[in-house]
Amino acid sequence: MLIRQDRGFEHAIPSEITPSHVYSRRREFLHQLAAAGMLATSASAWSQTTPRPGKLSALNSSVSTLSGAQATETVTPYKNASTYNNFYEFGTDKSDPAQNAHSLKTRPWTVEIEGLVKKPGKFSVEDLLKLSPMEERIYRMRCVEGWSMVIPWVGYSLSELIKRVEPLGSAKYVEFVTLADPKTMPYVGSRVLNWPYVEGLRMDEAMHPLTLLSFGMYGEVLPNQNGAPLRLTVPWKYGFKSGKSIVKIRFTENQPATAWNKAAAHEYGFYSNVNPNVDHPRWSQASERRIGDGGLLAKKIKTLMFNGYEAQVGQLYAGMDLTKNF
Ligand code: MTE
Repeated sequence: MLIRQDRGFEHAIPSEITPSHVYSRRREFLHQLAAAGMLATSASAWSQTTPRPGKLSALNSSVSTLSGAQATETVTPYKNASTYNNFYEFGTDKSDPAQNAHSLKTRPWTVEIEGLVKKPGKFSVEDLLKLSPMEERIYRMRCVEGWSMVIPWVGYSLSELIKRVEPLGSAKYVEFVTLADPKTMPYVGSRVLNWPYVEGLRMDEAMHPLTLLSFGMYGEVLPNQNGAPLRLTVPWKYGFKSGKSIVKIRFTENQPATAWNKAAAHEYGFYSNVNPNVDHPRWSQASERRIGDGGLLAKKIKTLMFNGYEAQVGQLYAGMDLTKNF
């Protein structure tokens, strides 16, 4: 991400029909959630009626208030979303995470909550799966490198968890620390980044209903390369704000030092809202290429302010100079 401008488009993968074993794993996951009473109606609507890849309009009734005007966009094929990844703990090429992340052990898994909260403690992933009903949310995701995807995530708003742990009034930010295990993650220890990979949000961003704690995608458990067993999905920010394989959530008074900001502060700011008017110092952010839509020949499409979620999140930044707070 730090290194090359057009890396994102070199290995674009052609669209592919979903294989049947993927459908059956998806059904199984949804049945498990439904049996435990953890499934909200939107996800079951997807499982019953929507072939993949499908038009977003099929789900519009359940997701339109949160997803923005996306009815004409096609969901990115599962194959692309699960083989074209950034997960630097497993390598720096887009194909590395899918090849290497099988070594990640996602059970047992604990997320520690600490810092400025009334109820700090440890949650197992099983506790977290049960904490709130799951929903399916189709989000447009835009990478800082200039490509994007449209992915149906499964999870619930992070605010559900935050409310349970009762942050103190002094908590202004939330820091997300992700796993850094050199035994199972071959690039931890390399000098690519300062490990662990850390991200952060302002408290109101973390509490925004769009900010999703994701456990699945395409109706299935998250593949390791997409951040199993749980990750963040913050659709109005560049993809790197969405930390994968989270192990610690810390409530702080001061703005957390985040991995990419530490690596190159002039290139990756704390906010990292998708903003076509603020160029990356080495390339324009005015347009993007949708992965799966024709590979290298795909036409670039115009990037939207806040990735198209301006109506929902624009007010969080009222009065801020977004060229300074990039
Ligand atoms: N989380 C961790 N722990 N390590 C990473 O390298 N990469 C980020 C983000 N979360 C990253 C991470 C970047 S740069 C992007 S674009 C998204 O994950 C990619 O998510 P995806 O592979 O599911 O599309």
